[in-house]
Amino acid sequence: MSRPIIIDCDPGIDDALAIMLAIASNELDIKLITTCAGNQRIEKITLNTLKLLSFVDKEIEVAKGADKPLFKDLILSEAAHGKSGFGEVELEELKFSVSDRSAIEAMKDTILNSEQKITIVAIGPLTNIALLIKSYPEVIKNINQLSIMGGACTGGNCTPVAEFNIYVDPDAAKIVFDSGIPITMFGLDVTHQIPMYKEDIDRIRYIGNKTGQFAAKMLDFYFKEDKIEGMHDPCPVAYLIDPSLFTIIPCNVEIETKGEFTRGQTVVDKLNQTGKPQNVKVALEVEREKILDMLYNAIKKLK
Ligand code: RIB
Ligand code: CA
Repeated sequence: MSRPIIIDCDPGIDDALAIMLAIASNELDIKLITTCAGNQRIEKITLNTLKLLSFVDKEIEVAKGADKPLFKDLILSEAAHGKSGFGEVELEELKFSVSDRSAIEAMKDTILNSEQKITIVAIGPLTNIALLIKSYPEVIKNINQLSIMGGACTGGNCTPVAEFNIYVDPDAAKIVFDSGIPITMFGLDVTHQIPMYKEDIDRIRYIGNKTGQFAAKMLDFYFKEDKIEGMHDPCPVAYLIDPSLFTIIPCNVEIETKGEFTRGQTVVDKLNQTGKPQNVKVALEVEREKILDMLYNAIKKLK
């Protein structure tokens, strides 16, 4: 039986690849896609999601979510994802329209009406997830787990200690990480183990379908100097398809929300020094070749 999932995202180049991977997977059943401001503003993010689904010709409800973090000002990631949010690629065709339900309402209804517990793939800032569990705490019992791209054991890509998705809305991340919902976290430590080189992009470019060409064009924008530094958002999806690709350990993870220099840091207690509850399963290693093969084969299955 396939696993019912909701994808909460901010497409975004790597978000688009994660969505392609999920659509192509026989193991996953995407019940809903919700959008959150992050890489771009919410209108652009939501339009990108609808255009991506139009491009791969897959109709899935898309519900528009938060246009800004809970308390902080919105920060975009235009340098990394370009003005279009898909690098320099602008998709034209629009076959589907946005849901008349808000992201929070659509998630609440989908989760409470599901016979199987729902898994949420969170690959943008966690604002929608925090609003969901604060507004409707009754959903928690019917959530199997959160598979999250965010944070890092060490380092950051927004500041020296903070990763973008957590940095944009650290208050939301704290609510989510303190919620008690089972979380599997894919941070920069593991996503940076998946650099992509020219040959990896060309392999996708020459698959021979339009999705391969679109994906390669987006990846060309992501490419800096001699490589793409890491493949982020496909990780929480790949884990749900084949957990054996990852090495994972339970840790206590706290979110720094008040630090003058450390806002958005995920404080990962790998050595259990605090003795605090190990609330998160943290991915530490990944089999790079296998996850790139998984992504290649998924794109090959699409149009
Ligand atoms: O730090 C990487 C994360 O930030 C990814 O989700 C990417 O899409 C950006 O949102
Ligand atoms: Ca993202």
